[in-house]
Amino acid sequence: QIRWHGDGPGPDAPTVQITFINPDDSETKVSARVGETLLQSAHRTGVEMEGACEGVCACSTCHVILEQDLYDNLLDKMEDEALSEDEEDMLDMAFGLEQTSRLGCQIKVTDGMDGAVISLPKATRNFYVDGHKPTPH
Ligand code: FES
Repeated sequence: QIRWHGDGPGPDAPTVQITFINPDDSETKVSARVGETLLQSAHRTGVEMEGACEGVCACSTCHVILEQDLYDNLLDKMEDEALSEDEEDMLDMAFGLEQTSRLGCQIKVTDGMDGAVISLPKATRNFYVDGHKPTPH
């Protein structure tokens, strides 16, 4: 299931403030355009989210970790933002999978996301050192 591939909304779109937590723990605050995907926001603002397949849910390099609230909200209340089977399959291959992991190219920015904090996964070799445990999906 391919969603929202292609150009995002233009500069006139309303924006919300989103904070990306980079793999090195630094923060990048961006103005994300409502209607673009998190991957598009990241690419437009220079955040290092890879997105090797360019947003067609076929690579998992756009893996992001959401706050629990946002994760639940997307799953429960917004049907077109829900986790698809394809996304789930891709996530299974992502490094550093967490319980609130999603693919950045499969989530569209909404005005309800103002103030959201989106974490990029840490490199796998730091994974166990940090004391995190992977959660089965
Ligand atoms: Fe490839 Fe999202 S960019 S799965």
